[in-house]
Amino acid sequence: MISGKTKVCAIIGNPIEHSLSPAIHNAAFNACSLDYVFVAFQVKKEELREAVQGFKALGVAGFCVTIPHKVAVMAYLDALDPLAKAIGSVNTVVNNNGILTGYNTDAPGFLEPLTTRGIELESKNVVMLGAGGAARAVAFMLVNEGARLTVLNRTLSRAEELAGGIKVSLKKDVNALEMNYENLKRAISQADICVNTTSIGMSPNTNETPVPAELLHPHLTVYDIVYNPAETRLICEAKKRGAVTLNGAEMLAWQGALAFEKWTGYKAPIEIMLKELKRALGYHED
Ligand code: ATR
Repeated sequence: MISGKTKVCAIIGNPIEHSLSPAIHNAAFNACSLDYVFVAFQVKKEELREAVQGFKALGVAGFCVTIPHKVAVMAYLDALDPLAKAIGSVNTVVNNNGILTGYNTDAPGFLEPLTTRGIELESKNVVMLGAGGAARAVAFMLVNEGARLTVLNRTLSRAEELAGGIKVSLKKDVNALEMNYENLKRAISQADICVNTTSIGMSPNTNETPVPAELLHPHLTVYDIVYNPAETRLICEAKKRGAVTLNGAEMLAWQGALAFEKWTGYKAPIEIMLKELKRALGYHED
């Protein structure tokens, strides 16, 4: 029951109506019997500042930030967690008595599904496909955990820019290459882990894949951060080759769980959040 004491959390983005965050966060609040409610707001770029100030005035407990505001929102916050600052994007904001602090839970959210499976990154050869918004947090986390990273992107300059950013923040070298057949072949043949951060294969383009099937091998772990569909063509072909596979649903649930913990101080009910996410996505129970 919503009362005069109910605390409010939110997500801002544009578009926002298809966001799954209200479903997973409200399920988590209910499961923990917490007097919180989570709602979604569509916020235009030119109204981002007013939206953030409004949240402060209204005393919302915290909010999530999604596309296209993850970088721009940083200018309107009072403080930044060092990880968010180093990555250069914020997806979670905590309101502590009127002080808004920005965090990045995408990066640790990406790592958790690997950690829980006992997959180490130290000294592993990792190929990351894509150099867009989602790739920043992923690349930072991979290199920070000691992986030797090669980034392949259709637009080489974006891969080089990403590598340059990592060099500045972590003082580590990242290999940047154009995403073509020869480079994919060479990089993947030497790789332990291949992460897809591009939108290739995402619904409705489910027949597309960033990696030709013959380049996949059984010693590879394939992590596709796409979560819709549950099994992208890449995941499906990797499984057929005997590779270990992970999709993006767990990452999405974990970034939400880590935000929940920052707002409430309670341990997040990750299994419930993941179950609710899979239900909302229409996954068949595995
Ligand atoms: P996001 O924030 O979700 O990462 P983005 O910033 O638009 O979205 O990045 C999308 C990524 O997918 C980019 O790496 C993009 O490559 P470019 O930098 O060359 O645009 C990649 N991508 C999307 N569609 C692609 C396609 N058909 N072929 C190759 N790369 C593609």
